[in-house]
Amino acid sequence: MKSGKEIRCSLCREPAVTRIAYAKLWLCKKHFIEFIEKRILETINRYRLAGRGQRILVAVSGGKDSITTLYMLHKASMEMGFKVIALHIDLGIGMYSKISRETVEHFCQSLRIPLITLDLKTLTGYSLPEFVHKTRRPPCSICGLLKRYLINVVAQEIKADAVALGHHLDDLLPYIFKNFILQNLFEISKLGPRTESENGLVGRIRPLYEVSEHEIALYAKLSNLPFVDEECPYAGKKNLDKQVKEFLNSLESLHPGIKISFARAVARNIHVYKALSTTKPLKKCMVCGAPSNDDICSFCKLTNRVAGKPLGAEVRLKIRDALSSLGLLE
Ligand code: AMP
Ligand code: FES
Ligand code: ZN
Ligand code: ZN
Repeated sequence: MKSGKEIRCSLCREPAVTRIAYAKLWLCKKHFIEFIEKRILETINRYRLAGRGQRILVAVSGGKDSITTLYMLHKASMEMGFKVIALHIDLGIGMYSKISRETVEHFCQSLRIPLITLDLKTLTGYSLPEFVHKTRRPPCSICGLLKRYLINVVAQEIKADAVALGHHLDDLLPYIFKNFILQNLFEISKLGPRTESENGLVGRIRPLYEVSEHEIALYAKLSNLPFVDEECPYAGKKNLDKQVKEFLNSLESLHPGIKISFARAVARNIHVYKALSTTKPLKKCMVCGAPSNDDICSFCKLTNRVAGKPLGAEVRLKIRDALSSLGLLE
């Protein structure tokens, strides 16, 4: 804020906490919170992310993005008449996972949101660091594979209409842009505000599609949402991603609003990118029945390598037991 004269909110003349360049507004705390909430609710409505009578499974890591996603979907669910169930996966990454798990548990308890917690080590016999050590593959690719598989099993078993993820504008646009540069155009179809459920893969929704990382960080802080501020110890540099992100942010500072326009244009064209698919329809894994590109799914292949046998079917049964004891199986 400038020294001397304090900058005031454009809507109420209270002291401003931030400027929204693309809306040409200075906003106070109250009006900034309202502005972000309105944007997220409009995203839910504009892209029909959730509707009356639906069951939405929200995947929550404990970070600001997924905590905000859960909080906003919980708020919207009461007015719009859908049900929200949270899912947290404890990956067993030392203190980072312990704090993340506790944060999600306390938050869900305080809002009375049903929570499913899956513990990777209990389910498979191995924590994420143990998977990484045994396979010597990049942690984030193993972590992504395990999370995608477990989230989809839970979503299938509780018959969720969609899985909500905490991806925001600054997560998605660099990926979209990178895939455009590499001409992986079909991949872009998976990065919009929603994907449809098909072939056993439950669709994803992204309520933070039009909100930037900076806006979410400020929103979560001003709303006093509890979240884990630490980054995962495996978070890498990923130079190209970082550079594309910086490039998009420098464009945004010269042309405020260009990131949202880009995101909306991509959302309008998702069907065009989807039609470019060259992959064959998904099969069913011979071991566990999960959707898969090959006869055996990547989870069963990975667990076979680490544990000496494919664990998909066994893990699904353990998850069914856990869901049944929570009264969440239909
Ligand atoms: P990431 O793959 O880490 O970029 O996370 C993308 C999204 O996946 C997050 O916004 C969450 O919605 C979800 N997610 C990430 N980690 C977890 C976790 N440990 N448990 C449940 N959901 C998660
Ligand atoms: Fe997946 Fe860090 S949370 S590698
Ligand atoms: Zn104000
Ligand atoms: Zn399998």
